Amino acid sequence: MNIFLFVTDLDHTLVGDKEALKKLNHKLEHHRKEYGTKIVYATGRSLTLYKELLREQLLLTPDALVASVGTEIYFDCQEYTTDSEWAEKLSFGWNRDLAVKVAETFPELIQQQESEQRPFKASYLLTEEDSIKVIPKLKSDLAKNDLKFNLIYSGAKDLDILPLYADKGLAVKFLQHKWQFGSHNTVVCGDSGNDIALFNAGEERGIIVGNARSELVEWYKANLKSYRYMAKSFYANGILEGLHYFNFI
Ligand code: GLC
Ligand code: MG
Repeated sequence: MNIFLFVTDLDHTLVGDKEALKKLNHKLEHHRKEYGTKIVYATGRSLTLYKELLREQLLLTPDALVASVGTEIYFDCQEYTTDSEWAEKLSFGWNRDLAVKVAETFPELIQQQESEQRPFKASYLLTEEDSIKVIPKLKSDLAKNDLKFNLIYSGAKDLDILPLYADKGLAVKFLQHKWQFGSHNTVVCGDSGNDIALFNAGEERGIIVGNARSELVEWYKANLKSYRYMAKSFYANGILEGLHYFNFI
């Protein structure tokens, strides 16, 4: 058994089956105590919605929280202070006000709740049907305004406009560098579109839970690699299955 960096999405990945979560928590807590393994949550949720989830689910305190689709990193999960070095990296080419102005010209885009509008993230609801024509047009309009951005569509309903160098995968690279982990001893777990960046950042060991959304399953099938594993089991049970598959536990 060796130390590893454990990174997981929350909704419909770590969270979804309370019994399985309890079992996984137990294993991870033991591993952290025994080998110094680090636990990171990489979620689309803002800190506000993360705290809501904490009231509903028994989650271990992570060593770092990557929130708002990779745009915020919190190391101190008692005080929740953001990492300023990370914020500085994201500022490149980012103009939130202009991005929002462009997005507002699309009536199909409905603003998500206020807590999900963050300094480095503008988020909307968009139906799958509308997404087909809206996403390419939005991309080209943003580019015409000289904006540098990263557009992520998840769960057939959420559209995030982020800075160019912002996603969950890049946040994990930042943590790997800080804590000296490589791809071979990092494992990332997810279920939907905003997790593709986790799997695509490099050769991290990837666990796609059995209940994953079609956008991720399709991407997985089109990009088969020996370091990615599609579990049969759902939620935390899928994570456990994958951790065994890669011999992490
Ligand atoms: C979470 C966030 C939301 C985001 C979505 C997909 O649900 O709360 O703002 O759009 O993840 O990344
Ligand atoms: Mg998810």
